[in-house]
Amino acid sequence: MTDQSLALWTATEIAAATGGRVLTDFVASGVAIDSRTVAPDDLFVALEGPNNDAHRFVAAALQAGAAGAIVARIPEGLGEAAPLVVVADTQAALEALGRAARHRVGAKVIAVTGSVGKTSTKDALAHCLALQGATHASAASYNNLWGVPLTLARMPQDTDFGVFEIGMNHAGEIVPLVAQVEPQVAMITTVEAAHLGNFRDESGIADAKAEIMTGLQPGGTVVLNRDNRWFDHLLGHARRLGIARIVSFGLDAVADVRAVSYELQADGSDVEASIHGRRLRFRVGVAGLHWVRNALGVLAAIEAAGADVDRAAAALAGIGPSKGRGQRFTLPVAGGDFTLIDDSYNANPVSMRAGLAVVGALPVKGRRILVLGDMLELGEDGERLHVGLAPDVVAAGADLVYTTGPLMQALNRALPPERRGDHAATSADLVDSVLRAIGPGDVVFVKGSLGSRMGRIVDALKALAHTDPNTPAGRKD
Ligand SMILES: Nc1ncnc2c1ncn2[C@@H]1O[C@H](COP(=O)(O)OP(=O)(O)OP(=O)(O)O)[C@@H](O)[C@H]1O
Ligand SMILES: [Mg+2]
Repeated sequence: MTDQSLALWTATEIAAATGGRVLTDFVASGVAIDSRTVAPDDLFVALEGPNNDAHRFVAAALQAGAAGAIVARIPEGLGEAAPLVVVADTQAALEALGRAARHRVGAKVIAVTGSVGKTSTKDALAHCLALQGATHASAASYNNLWGVPLTLARMPQDTDFGVFEIGMNHAGEIVPLVAQVEPQVAMITTVEAAHLGNFRDESGIADAKAEIMTGLQPGGTVVLNRDNRWFDHLLGHARRLGIARIVSFGLDAVADVRAVSYELQADGSDVEASIHGRRLRFRVGVAGLHWVRNALGVLAAIEAAGADVDRAAAALAGIGPSKGRGQRFTLPVAGGDFTLIDDSYNANPVSMRAGLAVVGALPVKGRRILVLGDMLELGEDGERLHVGLAPDVVAAGADLVYTTGPLMQALNRALPPERRGDHAATSADLVDSVLRAIGPGDVVFVKGSLGSRMGRIVDALKALAHTDPNTPAGRKD
């Protein structure tokens, strides 16, 4: 039986929120849209995509323990006795459920968008806020037309703090998403030429990110990066929308939440900050100047949400990189250990430079080995933006650079010959030469866009840890 204290939605509540019809009553404690990841007592929402209709998986979801489902029609094999709520449109129903969830909580809600650093910032916010109240945050990068309403629909009634990642690939996409989230704090981490593919220029990206301000609650706060070249542009948007409370963060001397001084270390940074004029010292548990800036943005948003900034600042020492965003592993190799930096989740020129700077600042006994895959969605500037990394690669002290993908091939060719490692068409084809190259004391940095599938190389390197260090897996010599 479902524990009523864990009840998230009753079938009656779902019907009221969505205008649907209950066939048989049920109580759900979670929400899922993928039948493969359904947990016991979840509500399964059968979304219909252009290539996939989840109505085919309703029976499997119920079999897997789902308490009930939202459907647009009764799937074959199920009858009037099934635990279903029948609606006109399941996507609209998920959104309606999300809005109902939002309206029944008394939470302070923070929405985060930006070209880079959304998930990192969202996870750090959730980490800091969880120590101060019941906190609900987006899973992974659930930031799109299904990720946002799904995250809302999953929000427990007793939530004190909600943290939502909002993303976009085209102009106009953020408006309906932030209208569902109704944040009291809206933050833009930064505006960069990431995903330039669908935009004329960077100002188009800035305008699209500024859409997050349209959903801000009356009296709410916009949090902006003072170091970003689009700051004034975004400020203009906020003013035109009549938003009075604007808080800036960054290294800039005039930022409201700024770093007075900082010391970058191999495994984190010590920061002295000024929070609206008040001095505060704290440690950030992830290395890199970009994380100093992320931390300042986190504190600015936390202050704007009315939470305790000092407690949040103290908690920043305990954050770690999100999965695939700079996680480090010490792994065995013949004759000793090497360090793997797994930054394989994503890449664009900004995050690539941030990662290279961290590699360059690390004390390294062996060599610095880079394994780089294409940064995708950069439009026609792609090749130029790859070749443009050559000075950063050299400045990071890279000894050997392995590349995969046609764009990274252009970077490979632009490097000094003694630093060039192998190039291969795909990450799978590169694995063996990377495995052969690694020696004790090396630092191996793996990064590329998700579509470049650099995770395969990370997995292969980790597999080394499970074999005899004297005969590393995949070694063919
Ligand atoms: N402020 C920052 N500046 C530059 N790089 C950053 C910053 N914050 C995080 N990164 C790096 O950028 C990469 C992507 O970070 P993250 O996943 O947080 O971004 P995102 O905006 O959520 O991306 P996505 O659009 O894929 O959801 C990671 O390698 C991360 O370490
Ligand atoms: Mg993300």
